[in-house]
Amino acid sequence: MRVPIIAGNWKMNKSVDESIELANAIIRGAYDVKNVDIVLCPPFTSLSDLSEMLADSDVSLGAQNCFWLNEGAYTGEIAPGMLKKAGCEYVILGHSERRAYFGETNETVNKRLIAALGEGLKPIVCVGEKLDEREANKTFDVVRDHVENGLKGVTKNDMENVTIAYEPVWAIGTGKNATPAQAQEVHAFIRELVGKIYDKAIADQLRIQYGGSVNPGNAESILKEKDVDGGLIGGASLKADSFLDIIKKAASAGK
Ligand code: 13P
Repeated sequence: MRVPIIAGNWKMNKSVDESIELANAIIRGAYDVKNVDIVLCPPFTSLSDLSEMLADSDVSLGAQNCFWLNEGAYTGEIAPGMLKKAGCEYVILGHSERRAYFGETNETVNKRLIAALGEGLKPIVCVGEKLDEREANKTFDVVRDHVENGLKGVTKNDMENVTIAYEPVWAIGTGKNATPAQAQEVHAFIRELVGKIYDKAIADQLRIQYGGSVNPGNAESILKEKDVDGGLIGGASLKADSFLDIIKKAASAGK
């Protein structure tokens, strides 16, 4: 019922030329894939070139962040309207690297989310606990806090355009993925929570991606879980072969 969504978060990797080469290989390799939404999130500098390349394909474009105002004296920030005009359909918000290194809080993530939705972008909102929080049995408290406060003021209608990415911080870039059972447990918790905040219909249609050391070897078992509706892929999205392999596993997850 929910179409899986596989997004590549390229983070601060790939020059414009390298982005074009990688996107070309992905478009070619994914041309016959059905029933998976594919999103590429390159650095800002590659967005407009990729937007032209992706225009005639089924692959969508996303950015890795945006500000909450649409213009003004905010050196270094990018407005949601600019992303929309540059051809973006999606935008990643609240990634743990932004929370850890750039002072993002639930409050700033929420402001960015409301602004992005206002411009018709489809936000991918990242939530997830750190290792010490998991070890202190605080996973559900942290995820609840990220979801409840991150989504504040988002209407039911707007929720149709929101994807949540569960990314346990201890699994990002570490090669230590959550087990399928660990992912499913938190995904089910998020869906239930969204059901309480909104209603069952909104919760049922919500796509919840897993992110954190997803690779061709572990993708299938994670993507098969009932409440896992795709992946937000870092390292393995930087090579066409591994990203395409994960996309194909999502297509054959049989849900
Ligand atoms: P890795 O796949 O490299 O662990 O990164 C995950 C991530 O942060 C995606 O947003």
